[in-house]
Amino acid sequence: MKNRFNKILLSGFLLSASHLNSFGQGDVAPAPSTAKVPEIFFQSELYMLIFLFLIMLIAIISLTRSLKKLSYGMLSPEKRQALELKNEKAFEEKMLAPSFWTRFDRAILTKAVTVEKEADVMLDHNYDGIRELDNNLPPWWVWGFYLTIIFAFVYLAHYHLFRTGPLQTEEYNIAMQEAADQAKARELKMKDFVSAETITALNTPEALGAGKGIYEKNCVACHGAELGGSVGPNLTDDFWIHGGGIKNMFKVITEGVPAKGMISWKSQLTPKQIQQVASFILTKKGSNPAGGKEPQGDKYVDESLSAQPTDSTKADSTIIAN
Ligand code: HEC
Repeated sequence: MKNRFNKILLSGFLLSASHLNSFGQGDVAPAPSTAKVPEIFFQSELYMLIFLFLIMLIAIISLTRSLKKLSYGMLSPEKRQALELKNEKAFEEKMLAPSFWTRFDRAILTKAVTVEKEADVMLDHNYDGIRELDNNLPPWWVWGFYLTIIFAFVYLAHYHLFRTGPLQTEEYNIAMQEAADQAKARELKMKDFVSAETITALNTPEALGAGKGIYEKNCVACHGAELGGSVGPNLTDDFWIHGGGIKNMFKVITEGVPAKGMISWKSQLTPKQIQQVASFILTKKGSNPAGGKEPQGDKYVDESLSAQPTDSTKADSTIIAN
């Protein structure tokens, strides 16, 4: 009987194993054996199937065990004897031995005394017929309790003896410092952030120097060393094809005018660098270099410069005077 059962189990294993295999490959042709870990191990279904299979296995094993026990219990004494005569003496012993679950329960879960021995642990008192057993504490609970004691020593040593871990105030200060660092980094990033809407001309020597360097490296070939223009237009006059001023320039340099031979620079220069080179170009306004190209485009008037703030005190007094 036992042998047969094992055979059934084995064939079950084999069956499901071959099943899993075909499941993993599906209708996709198997990849050449270059991959180290087969694809199937990354599919959650595999693990679901294995889990399901294990549960079924456990169910089958416990079912057959209890069936065996039941049928043994139903045998008549003569038949039991016959079984023992068939050289299976250990059989009865095994059948009546406590099950795995009982042993597990006694060793780890409750350690409860057997019903027959309960009288030994009965306490003296009796409240209206309710009596108390002096059972052991559950082993798992006791172990947990010992663990907390060990943990307390580790904690004490880590935080208070060797001071290898930050205490609450320290932890708070570290977190605050981290937040401050992040805020600073964010601020720096925002300072470097330039867009066509927010851009302003720079006037620091460093920025203009950097702009000059960028111009000499990238733009001289088409706009001339003195910005007088050659392939590209003169950048020193008041006439602009795409509008003058830092904002228009930023747009043209960033996006380019590919159809007319002006490259888009956004893949080669950062917004900050474009701001620097555009600011440098602005400083050359009106420099009127020798051999400069004739003006192209429309005359550009910077509205932000022409719109001078009016003196509000004067305006008020005129109103009063009127
Ligand atoms: C391959 C040649 C070439 C290079 C390199 C080049 N440009 Fe230009 N650029 C042009 C041409 C051509 C135009 C005119 C586009 C048009 O007609 O619409 C132009 C136009 C411009 C304009 C607009 C001028 C206006 O009148 O509106 C600006 C600003 C400008 N370039 C800046 C730059 C800067 C800054 C660089 C370097 C980072 C640069 N260019 C590099 C060819 C070039």
